[in-house]
Amino acid sequence: MSLHLDEAARSILETNDLGGYTIPTKGLYPYQWNWDSAFVSLGFARFSLERAWQEIETLMEGQWPDGMVPHILFRKDDPSYFPGPSVWGTHGKPMPSSGHSQPPVAATAVRHIYELDKSPAARERLKVLFRKLLKWHRWFHTARDPQGLGVIAVMHPWESGRDNLPDWDEPTKQIDTSSVGTYQRKDTSHVDPTMRPKKADYDRYLALVQFGREHNWDPYAIATNCPFFVADPAMTFILLRADRDLLALAKELGEDEAATELEEWIARTESGISILWNEDLQAFTVFDLRSGTKGDGISSASFLAPYAGISNPQYIEPMLAHFDRIASQVTYMMPSYDPDHEAFEPMRYWRGPVWGILNYMIAKGLGEIGEDSRAARMRDDTAALIAKSGFAEYFNPFTGDGAGGSSFSWTSAIWLDWVTPTRTAGEA
Ligand code: DGY
Repeated sequence: MSLHLDEAARSILETNDLGGYTIPTKGLYPYQWNWDSAFVSLGFARFSLERAWQEIETLMEGQWPDGMVPHILFRKDDPSYFPGPSVWGTHGKPMPSSGHSQPPVAATAVRHIYELDKSPAARERLKVLFRKLLKWHRWFHTARDPQGLGVIAVMHPWESGRDNLPDWDEPTKQIDTSSVGTYQRKDTSHVDPTMRPKKADYDRYLALVQFGREHNWDPYAIATNCPFFVADPAMTFILLRADRDLLALAKELGEDEAATELEEWIARTESGISILWNEDLQAFTVFDLRSGTKGDGISSASFLAPYAGISNPQYIEPMLAHFDRIASQVTYMMPSYDPDHEAFEPMRYWRGPVWGILNYMIAKGLGEIGEDSRAARMRDDTAALIAKSGFAEYFNPFTGDGAGGSSFSWTSAIWLDWVTPTRTAGEA
């Protein structure tokens, strides 16, 4: 069974490989996506280190001169996706792309690949990638944290990678969608619309793209005037971990100045996360930098603190209590949103379904703070989901049914890197 799934996962990555870069799945997502590629590289690393390095290298080819690495690289036109390159209006960049970023998993992936491949040639590749990754992280710490608060904001729900999370409902409510006009979605022709964001969400997504395009995607204009600018625990924790991984690589390469800069960012974020702590919920939630209000729900991102190297009991003990509360309600961990929240929907994209990549990061963190049995629950549940429903984009936390796109690259990659029992036992 496991060998069969190993082969199936590998074959999905090979089929979705369009020549040096990988698409998440055919039809629904026909381009190179940022954090998808980072996870995909972990899967490739299990059978082709060359291809693993290449996946990150092709991603970084899209880096803008200011350091931003776009969330989509439109390497060739594909009419099966909307909104395509013309809607984004990002001219004069290394290649047609979207205008904002996505969670920076790449540095963490690069450290992981380098641990598996310390050849002299790999070190040369690492040196090149290191400079680009550092520049990208610097962009996050300035463009998306212009006040130096130590928390990272997103200017679009798509930038968070968790598009229709209930946390965005309130902050997107006041967005003026009157000039969005008519458009034709493509996602709902690939996937059952009940598993996707609603039209009202898409109107707001497009209004934000319109804002970015009209302001030439300028980070200053965005930080000052974008109607949506929300500090996100996932973005903040993922960057904090990635900063730590980049720091380890800086030390490996003798990059002393960069190491000092990274240490400053890490210290600032370690103290900044208190802004995201919601005393009432005893959990990390979003913080709307426009209205000054905190989110009222717990999402899977609320469990990423250990992944970011946070082990303070003040945060971890309540987090574990929430973990156990949710674990007692669902068959498969970790739902993307709290099942006790009124906005929870078990099959609608980021409003409830389980995502393998979130499970991977949560479990990694839990393992690193010694929470082995909870980490094992995450891995066992992920294995059971994939065994039941294949390499789906996401899964129903009660029934285990697969949802969204199928033959999905990142689900296959985390199977190969983490879930498969044919990998070394005991690794979270
Ligand atoms: C989509 O098109 O659904 C993507 O999530 C945007 O990144």
